Amino acid sequence: MNLIHIKPNDRVFVLTGAGMSAESGIPTFRDTNGLWRNYRVEEVASPDAWRRDPQLVWDFYSMRRTVAAAAQPNPGHRALAALERTLGSRLFLCTQNVDNLHEQAGSRPLHMHGELFKSRCERCQLPFDDTNIYHEVPHCACGGKVRPHICWFGERPFGMDRVLRILEVCTVFIAIGTSGVVEPAASFVGQTQARTFYVGPEEPLNLASFDETFEGKAGELLPTLFDVW
Ligand code: OAD
Repeated sequence: MNLIHIKPNDRVFVLTGAGMSAESGIPTFRDTNGLWRNYRVEEVASPDAWRRDPQLVWDFYSMRRTVAAAAQPNPGHRALAALERTLGSRLFLCTQNVDNLHEQAGSRPLHMHGELFKSRCERCQLPFDDTNIYHEVPHCACGGKVRPHICWFGERPFGMDRVLRILEVCTVFIAIGTSGVVEPAASFVGQTQARTFYVGPEEPLNLASFDETFEGKAGELLPTLFDVW
């Protein structure tokens, strides 16, 4: 079977998307057709939606908190955590997912789209741990509205300086379970000189930019995919 070979001098950048958590029972955006209560995701995950109807936004993220709280890491998450234990700082894990399944498996990812179990006051801006389900829009002691700590459409993803620095120096780039539709993550593969691999059951939109594809589910392929020298 074909493997991803990782040599002693390699620096590995792993990018994960919604497909990574699909086998843990968290639906991908594609699976749900990007819809919730007949709203497109863009209509409830945006600064405009927050200004118009913050309770609707909290209803959406409360639902997502409930789904994610019931989920467990799958063998794909655990395989990446094992790879991180082997490679140490030579592996960088960047996820578009807002669930905490990578952490539960033992990884330390950069959450470029934020974290579902964090909120922040829109005035003070300091994120804090928060697993609450809100039936009313919460407020901070300072009076500001508390919002989900999520990168919405039109906002700048978190940690981009670090992401771009590591993209420049990595020698292996592996994207897993991401449709290659949403920017800026969809363009990462085109910005690196690394050997590039895609893992997932369907062709991503940016397929032409990858050197090699492994067709199948993350939880089935990842546990036996890496050959570390
Ligand atoms: P998508 O829902 O667009 O794509 C999910 C991808 O996962 C698809 O290409 C599927 O083929 C693949 N997939 C499904 N099951 C899989 C499995 N078991 N193993 C591996 N792959 C599997 O999700 P993303 O590309 O992550 O942003 O979407 C990117 C961003 O768009 C999200 O972070 C979110 C969304 O709008 C925000 O909320 C800001």
